[in-house]
Amino acid sequence: MSDPMSAESGPVPARDASGLARGASLPADGPIVAGGASRSLRHESAAMHVSGSATYIDDMPEPKGLLHVVPGLSTRAHARILSMDLDAVRAAPGVVRVLTAADIPGHNQISPVGKNDEPLLAEDLVSYYGQPIFAVVAETRAAARRAARLARIEYEELPAILDIAQARAAGGALVWRALEMTRGDVLAGLAAAPRRLSGQVTMGGQEHFYLEGQAALAQPGEEGEMRVWSSTQHPTETQHMVAHVLDRPSNLVTTEIRRMGGGFGGKESQANTPACLAALAAELTGRAAKMRLDRDDDMVMTGKRHDFVVEYDVGFDDDGRILAVDMVLAARCGWSADLSGPVTDRALFHADNAYYYPDVRLRSEPLKTNTQSNTAYRGFGGPQGIVAAERVIEEVAFATGLDPLDVRLRNVYGTGTRDLTPYHMTVEDSIAAEIMEQLARDCAYRDRRAALRAANRDSPFVRRGIALTPVKFGISFTATHYNQAGALVHVYTDGSVQVNHGGTEMGQGLHTKMVQIAMREFGLASDRVRITATTTGKVPNTSATAASSGADLNGMAVLDAVRRIKDRLTAFAAGHWNVAPEAVRFLPDGVHVGETIVPFPDLTRAAYLARVSMSSSGFYKTPKISWNPDTGRGRPFYYFAYGAACAEVAIDLLTGETRIERVDILHDAGRSLNPAIDIGQIEGAFVQGAGWLTMEELVWDSAGRLRTHAPSTYKIPACSDRPRIFNVALLEAAPNREDTIFRSKAVGEPPFVHGVAVLHAISDALASLDSYRTCPRLDAPATPETILRTAERLRPRAGG
Ligand code: MTE
Ligand code: MOS
Repeated sequence: MSDPMSAESGPVPARDASGLARGASLPADGPIVAGGASRSLRHESAAMHVSGSATYIDDMPEPKGLLHVVPGLSTRAHARILSMDLDAVRAAPGVVRVLTAADIPGHNQISPVGKNDEPLLAEDLVSYYGQPIFAVVAETRAAARRAARLARIEYEELPAILDIAQARAAGGALVWRALEMTRGDVLAGLAAAPRRLSGQVTMGGQEHFYLEGQAALAQPGEEGEMRVWSSTQHPTETQHMVAHVLDRPSNLVTTEIRRMGGGFGGKESQANTPACLAALAAELTGRAAKMRLDRDDDMVMTGKRHDFVVEYDVGFDDDGRILAVDMVLAARCGWSADLSGPVTDRALFHADNAYYYPDVRLRSEPLKTNTQSNTAYRGFGGPQGIVAAERVIEEVAFATGLDPLDVRLRNVYGTGTRDLTPYHMTVEDSIAAEIMEQLARDCAYRDRRAALRAANRDSPFVRRGIALTPVKFGISFTATHYNQAGALVHVYTDGSVQVNHGGTEMGQGLHTKMVQIAMREFGLASDRVRITATTTGKVPNTSATAASSGADLNGMAVLDAVRRIKDRLTAFAAGHWNVAPEAVRFLPDGVHVGETIVPFPDLTRAAYLARVSMSSSGFYKTPKISWNPDTGRGRPFYYFAYGAACAEVAIDLLTGETRIERVDILHDAGRSLNPAIDIGQIEGAFVQGAGWLTMEELVWDSAGRLRTHAPSTYKIPACSDRPRIFNVALLEAAPNREDTIFRSKAVGEPPFVHGVAVLHAISDALASLDSYRTCPRLDAPATPETILRTAERLRPRAGG
């Protein structure tokens, strides 16, 4: 292979239960020379990750005189603050200052969508249990933590609305406008359908559980300058919020982030609170200040994935063809809007998953509650819409007695026909059917299904189930203006290259992919291309690294910057060595200038002496997209990413426990930029999705206090919960038909949806209890309790 990306993606080897790829060709140790580079270049920080030397915010050398900030949190879900006595806090040992809303020089407002409904520190009202009211600034974290407990706050309690049912009963106040998407006449469609049914599906929320909690470090500079290192997915927004809170222009505030220890959407907007509080402390004391949240405080303070209740009404025929779908998708949004508007919108955008609904009406209900402000989380509402879509499929399958896979295949989007989404975008690239069929063949879905069903008859306590579900996921921010990116590339005289771009690294491998683009274009080895921390001082006005579009957007911006530099070097070389510009090519063995091969550093030194600029910014904006929420019409997505998963589970009817026996995934990453990283994304996303739907459960008590606020009470998947057999493959020879960076496809979020196959496999196992007659209507998370309750409902009564 002659460059880091051009090689065709070969078949990706199956993995055995140990998780080791058989025959995988991952690169060997040492710098990878372009001449022998693999497209599966290892993560730029892999060695640092595993040796513990990668620097996160709390690992940075501490500036002299550093202060520590700890928040004081509300202990009521909804209350007026009658009085606040912080004298004991101020008098506690080590305390330097106590911050309240009154200390904020600028605006006490950090709503990421400009709604003015999110004070940084509560004023006279608290809206959830865990809301920051004040912050202690002390010489040590321990001193600040001890002092925070000494506050005496008097509250007048107000009625608290904690969940979707309570919110509806109280009149259904919304944090954002409801969205409606319609096509055709749904009521007429339902009335005319030969068969019809309705139901409801509930799915829980999810804690992000990034390994690195929320953290920020602020350092004051001259004349109002403020530098903030923040574990944020959105440095530009963090910069704006700090500027807003301190009341100064953006040019005085710089935000920087080398990497996050995971974000998963939880640091898209909610990193702003620690950044603003650290900056406020730094501003008022003139000293550097750090806020690194304790895990319990992090879980109690910050928003999570939205839990949803979806009501559906579906019309269909005896062949399992869906004719009309009417759905209301209600979400618990928490106390402020945060990103709940776009999240609930995206749930609607995915309530069709891969299926064509002839007549359709979809409505969102973003409900306000006195709980944490729910936020972005891998898939951004999409997975919730897809869970609803797949429940509808399952209902139709049980009603008609068909294999759910056949119902899926009968309803999947076509090409040129049955291809219009509920938001009036034509699906031009539907490959969901092919992927499902190929996967079903490769993993022998039909034979295994028949065998499992037969075996279940003789198995009193252990029942097995299998399901194969697809994903179609829309790629682009639905806020069209977000679909832009910038980059800044420097070539130094010694021929080494520094790449900077607007995206952030959170473990997903974005920086590695950006390095690969520069390597390929300049013909350089990986040790000649250095990625630098993301900073608003180098690339301004960036979008959050989110919506899976980090590589799509920033990759094109990096390419633009690199090509501008190459154009200048090419013109220089052509003139200097007297050849045609077409005779200058940047290859792994050096720069070919006609017949001569010039080492890259020789070219850059010569170009410098000739006064050629070797630095450039780059820019990109996604073409073709538009979306109007008022009409519910447009082309919000540049393209779709596809995939399918087949899961086989065993459930224990005595304990309710589930074991994932086998999972096969076939996923479409276009022409993958880095197959090893993309497979890692698919594996991780699947496990996270399965965790959401089977074991992660958030519990609030009647006072609105989150009781699952630490790993002791909140269970995330462990290594031992991975499927016993786990085969992940990338769809081969599948370049993106749109002109994306080297024809790749976004991969960060879509495979999260593969966890849905596990929910449906459990449901299939449960259905065996009444000989597959009724749809189990299994809600999520399918914890042992939920499984036992559902089994109880399905099991024929003894003697009855
Ligand atoms: N992978 C890791 N390891 N850590 C993360 O925090 N976040 C996910 C996904 N994969 C995440 C991850 C989410 S929510 C998104 S939107 C994408 O990565 C963002 O990165 P990308 O756009 O570069 O794919
Ligand atoms: Mo991802 S939820 O878009 O940060």
